[in-house]
Amino acid sequence: MSLRFILPLALAVGLFAYAVMPVVNDMTLRWFVRDLDARSQMLASALQQPLLDYVPGKDQRKINQLFERSVQDGRLYALAFCSPDGRVLYRSASYPASLGCRATQPTLDMQQSLVDLPQGKVHVTESQLMQGTAVLGKLILVHDMSYIERRTAETRNYLIALFALLAVVISLITVFIAHLSWRGWISAVKSILHRDEPSPRGSSAPPEVQPLVGDLRALLHDMRVERRGEGVSSISWTPEKLRSLLHDELAGDQILVVSNREPYIHTRTPEGIEVRRPASGLVTAVEPVMRACSGTWIAHGAGSADRETVDANDHVAVPPKKPSYTLRRVWLSKEEEQGYYYGFANEGLWPLCHIAHVRPVFRTSDWEQYVAVNQRFADAVIAEAHGEDPVVLVQDYHFALLPRMVREKLPRATIIMFWHIPWPNPESFGICPWREEILEGLLGNTLLGFHTPFHCKNFLETVDRFLEARIEHEASTISYGGELTEVEPYPISIAWPEPFPLSVPECRASVRKELGLPDNHLLALGVDRLDYTKGIIERIQSVERVLELHPSLIGRFSLVQIAAPSRSSLDEYQNLESRVRALALRINKRFSSGSYEPIILKIHHYESEDVNRYYRGADVCLVTSLHDGMNLVAKEFIAARDDERGVLVLSQFTGAARELHEALIINPYHIEQGAEALYRALTMPEGEQRERIRSMRSLVRDFNVYRWAGRMLIDAARLRRRERVTARIHSQSRKPLRRVV
Ligand code: G6P
Repeated sequence: MSLRFILPLALAVGLFAYAVMPVVNDMTLRWFVRDLDARSQMLASALQQPLLDYVPGKDQRKINQLFERSVQDGRLYALAFCSPDGRVLYRSASYPASLGCRATQPTLDMQQSLVDLPQGKVHVTESQLMQGTAVLGKLILVHDMSYIERRTAETRNYLIALFALLAVVISLITVFIAHLSWRGWISAVKSILHRDEPSPRGSSAPPEVQPLVGDLRALLHDMRVERRGEGVSSISWTPEKLRSLLHDELAGDQILVVSNREPYIHTRTPEGIEVRRPASGLVTAVEPVMRACSGTWIAHGAGSADRETVDANDHVAVPPKKPSYTLRRVWLSKEEEQGYYYGFANEGLWPLCHIAHVRPVFRTSDWEQYVAVNQRFADAVIAEAHGEDPVVLVQDYHFALLPRMVREKLPRATIIMFWHIPWPNPESFGICPWREEILEGLLGNTLLGFHTPFHCKNFLETVDRFLEARIEHEASTISYGGELTEVEPYPISIAWPEPFPLSVPECRASVRKELGLPDNHLLALGVDRLDYTKGIIERIQSVERVLELHPSLIGRFSLVQIAAPSRSSLDEYQNLESRVRALALRINKRFSSGSYEPIILKIHHYESEDVNRYYRGADVCLVTSLHDGMNLVAKEFIAARDDERGVLVLSQFTGAARELHEALIINPYHIEQGAEALYRALTMPEGEQRERIRSMRSLVRDFNVYRWAGRMLIDAARLRRRERVTARIHSQSRKPLRRVV
């Protein structure tokens, strides 16, 4: 390092000296010549009077004496006196004969006053001797220049030495300073790298490192996430793996799940009590996890026969055929359900978080019920908890306030929440009249998960906008009221299905037979809850457009739309159903012939076996959501196609589109684009279908729901260990426990 500093500096100084020296020489010579000019003038004036005394009388002896005395001055080398006609009349013994009486102009041009003689350079000046107006002759003074050359050489050497010394000193100082700042810089970077937790803003890092702090932390965070991800993705995730992870990481810890929708609904029918699985992405994802890890699932008992099937503690063992965990039902009155579920959750938060251009409705009475029901469920969690630090997995937008309510009673609980729907930007969220309360409730969580990094970013920005919280964007943590919440993306998925009892050709045949269609009829499939966020209207419009553009498809192709009725007591949902029915009717009228209908609407609930049969029987699956957190239908279709055939058309506004890149990605608002994608899907060569779906199948198989839950639980275990250490430290220092890590 030192050489890198010294060499350029020495070079610069050397060059400088080399360029400067001739100028310095020239300047000193000029000074000396000017000095000699003045000196010569002075001497000439001093000799004026004696010469006036001696020259007219031609007193040779006196003049010689005068000249010899004068040249005793070491610098005056010789003197001569010339007649006006240019003959040397008198001269000192040292006067060079070769000089004669040559005329000089001493002060005008330095070159002319200097004469090179065999004995060296001399300075020559002349001065006229006047008596009245008569010119008696001229006095020539010759000064020795050798001492000047000596002095110039001395000055040059001195300057070179000075420059060299300066170069060395400056280099040493530079190296020393560079060394000091390098050490300071390195130790600042080291302290950033080694610090476990991000320090407050304006931390002790020196100013020159400050611009790097953010980047370094972001890099570290990415590396940590990647490392965790690497460890996690190298695991092959199965129910057994999840079970053993729970055993290793959360040994003996109680797991409690809270959601609004229950995984099994008991309904009274004329044939007796029936058990149904609801159409819910949340249930699809969480149920296999609960089967794997047991525990207790707390949910709203909404079925007409739910009360009849629970024990005295409102518990029922599920799944009914092979019980492996407990369902604890919470009962809600009609008013509570209306205000909390239909009102605040589904008329307020649902449209607020989905950009589907349906206005959210906020009513104080709904909010009050939402608060009260969150408290009811929080009380149920506390009642079900065996110890003071259970692991609580809170699901979705129905329970934004519950995490803080549980935290107040069980400060040592590990509370993990997953928000199954998108999180909007701060402007959109800001229109909620209770935005601060909701954010404060969510910051009762230890860990808060969203489907995508984009939703996490929106959440951090929303908190930044509306609460006085400290946010570390790089570490993705929020510190609020002395407590820390980590915010991370966990893309949800499905359980990889068991082999289906019917082959794909059997499913194709069975579906077509059921629909009264010929064996070679082309089928596109839509499977959704009947919800305005799903883009069902746009999907049907695309089908109409494809028939307009490609009339050869008329009579040979239909869309089967399975739409499970949902939240049907709400106006928006009723309107949607009427619009969907009316649109299908109009298009069917326009294109039908005989029994052929291009739009086959199935607005009722289908069990998962039937839905799977349809997935396997269809040529194309259409997922055209206007906005969707993830959309598990897309992943279910991919997983169902073990024949490696079938094409997925997928909206760019779903979380799934960030993972399933081989789908035909569309903007569902653009009807022509949807129609083109549909046509391309219906005519896609088998080889291309195989290539695309194979790649997506391998992704969904590996990134399954056990991985989703496993990653969250591994993170929870890490935070839990940290909290336990913090708790020990606090108990030793007898300070009250706060969830600060
Ligand atoms: C979405 C929500 C779930 C909900 C599901 C069905 O997927 O994220 O929380 O369970 O819709 O809606 P529902 O209102 O019938 O439970």
